Amino acid sequence: MSKEIEDHRILNRSDNEPFSAILDRRVSRRGIMQGGLGVAAMTVLGGFGLAGCSDDDDAHADDQPAKTPLALAFESVKGSKTDAIVVPAGYSAQVLIPWGTPLNSSARDWNPGMKMTPEDQLNMVGMQHDGMHNFPLDEKNASSDFLLAMNNEYIDQTALWFQDGPTSDVDGKRPADEVRTEINAHGVTIVRLKKQGDGSWVHDPSSLYNRRITSATSMDLAGPVAGSDYVKTKYSKDGKTVRGTNNNCANGYTPWGTYLTCEENWPGYFIKKDGREMDDDRLGIEDENGRYGWETAAGDASEVDDEFARFDTTPRGGSATDDYRNEARGFGYIVEIDPYSDARAIKRTHLGRFRHEGCWPGKLVEGEPVVFYSGHDSRNEYIYKFVSKAVWDPADANRPGDNYDRLSIGAKYMDEGTLYVAKFNDDGTGEWLPLTPDAQTPGGKSLATALGLDTGDLAGIIVHTCDAADLMGATPMDRPEWGTVDPHTGEVYMTLTNNSDRTEAGTDATFTSGNSVEELGVGYASAPVNGPNPRAENEGGQVIRWVEPSPKEATFEWDIFVCGAASGDADNLSGLTELNQFASPDGLWYDDRGDGKGILWIETDNGYENVTEDTNDQLLAVVPAAVSQGEGDTTVIGSGNQTQLKRFLVGPNGCEVTGICATPDKSALFINIQHPGNWPADDSAATQDATKVTSGTVRPRASTVVIWKNDGGQIGL
Ligand code: FEO
Ligand code: CA
Ligand code: CA
Repeated sequence: MSKEIEDHRILNRSDNEPFSAILDRRVSRRGIMQGGLGVAAMTVLGGFGLAGCSDDDDAHADDQPAKTPLALAFESVKGSKTDAIVVPAGYSAQVLIPWGTPLNSSARDWNPGMKMTPEDQLNMVGMQHDGMHNFPLDEKNASSDFLLAMNNEYIDQTALWFQDGPTSDVDGKRPADEVRTEINAHGVTIVRLKKQGDGSWVHDPSSLYNRRITSATSMDLAGPVAGSDYVKTKYSKDGKTVRGTNNNCANGYTPWGTYLTCEENWPGYFIKKDGREMDDDRLGIEDENGRYGWETAAGDASEVDDEFARFDTTPRGGSATDDYRNEARGFGYIVEIDPYSDARAIKRTHLGRFRHEGCWPGKLVEGEPVVFYSGHDSRNEYIYKFVSKAVWDPADANRPGDNYDRLSIGAKYMDEGTLYVAKFNDDGTGEWLPLTPDAQTPGGKSLATALGLDTGDLAGIIVHTCDAADLMGATPMDRPEWGTVDPHTGEVYMTLTNNSDRTEAGTDATFTSGNSVEELGVGYASAPVNGPNPRAENEGGQVIRWVEPSPKEATFEWDIFVCGAASGDADNLSGLTELNQFASPDGLWYDDRGDGKGILWIETDNGYENVTEDTNDQLLAVVPAAVSQGEGDTTVIGSGNQTQLKRFLVGPNGCEVTGICATPDKSALFINIQHPGNWPADDSAATQDATKVTSGTVRPRASTVVIWKNDGGQIGL
């Protein structure tokens, strides 16, 4: 087994902390929260009913494994507002695989003045890098030679077309090849990366593993929605295939070695002028103009199989198989990709249909279900958990390389199970509400009946995931973005990035239409503060966390790990200073180092001016095992320990910092710089010093950045 496997919690569970110890620690925090927030939370003990639990904070001190939490061995970097990356002293940062890097000989060499063609872009690294994950080819070289699977979320049309567009004719129609180029700039890039002797990295343009999956690539549907009437179209009369994955934001990965790419703001690419249905409104399918006007190229003489017409989902034919009224119902899913093969990607519909930010596996326990957490990134939307029907068999654990049918294992764990949505109680507890046809709503109906569906229509529940979650009484959150799981404790962390529509306590919730959430096709336009979303007009965002007694449990307990804010803000609940103030947390990764050494990395995508006036977007680090909530604090990071949250990196002007992974030995950390304004410094170089400040104006290129310690040691420690 590879280090990769070990680091991904599958085999080495020897340092697992007993759940009773986790509970003790958390109850200790709760007691403090009780004083600080006036909430009663000690009842969680009774809720889990675990033998040996005690409300005596010290009862299990002797039983807990000794931990040696380490301080982060770098100085927090100051805020920066330049066209350059900033990293701590003793580190190097290099630009790697910028947008437009050729992946094979079918693409022309990049040059900053080139006009991209569909063929070029299909064979180059896509645009607007986002979530990513590394996949080793063998155990021995896992930290120096691996496949990177990376999302290309959307396009910057100004950079894509530079002096050449985008264009449209007098009737507003986009040229077919411009649209094809834009479609090919979206999706997923798989590319082989190799470390060189001096610590720097290159991509291997000759690797046969390199490939692109775009918003035009044909792929399969699996799970409850596959083959249902909901997804039958003129192109897919059996409802089992769909073209493309779109707006791939954060990512995930599976314990069996596949990549998960997650469809986020895809509704903006489709229009439906009339004949709109409940889910079209609930999810926000456009009614007039698609984001980039791809639908306007319909009817071009070169169009193949309605490649452009499908983006206009207005019913036009006699039935669903005569038109594309259902095309958008093929989107909004978690998509599984085997990075080691050219197998077709598979949309795993049972994990729900919404604006998926990402998807993260929970702690693995042999003989227990496999779980995946995901969030819906829109204001006042929800957090979800999928629980597999099959129980975990360690024989299914990842093994690097070819000739291994990972996607069949994916079907085993992801196509049958139960989808749940989270309800957070203000007392620090929570529960997972099932989204099944026969689940009972608070209104006393079965969920299928409440949604107006046929008895047992699980596909319908999934297509209408958000409406189903509304009806079950889920808690509206402050825009769930990334999650991550500490594989040793099972604690789940999730960023809630911000929410200007969060209202004060005591105000009424408002809805996008209608008067209540009982009316179908509506969501919360605004909602008053609640426990995990404690601030009105929330600009700073927060990182919450929760833990469950075991993967299959329907209850959890939660706390707030840190709240973003500017140092001078009145609601700076975590006591941040100029050296770690941040807002709009987005990317998140617990880097799986055991023995209390695991670092939680927090990336930002910020527009809050009290912070942007001081610094560009950034990457922060903290060792969660080294911090515990102080008396009187409402968040785990507080005035007594905030110095342990350190700023590790600042990005160039205009960017967001996103995507994160590291080699198994933690000697190289990879992040993505998305939508930089005028960076990297040399717009013609595929690899270069990421910390060099741009002079003049360049054609900006979203890029991966690899960071290493000059002494070759572990990042951060
Ligand atoms: Fe694409 Fe929610 O970030
Ligand atoms: Ca994001
Ligand atoms: Ca964001």
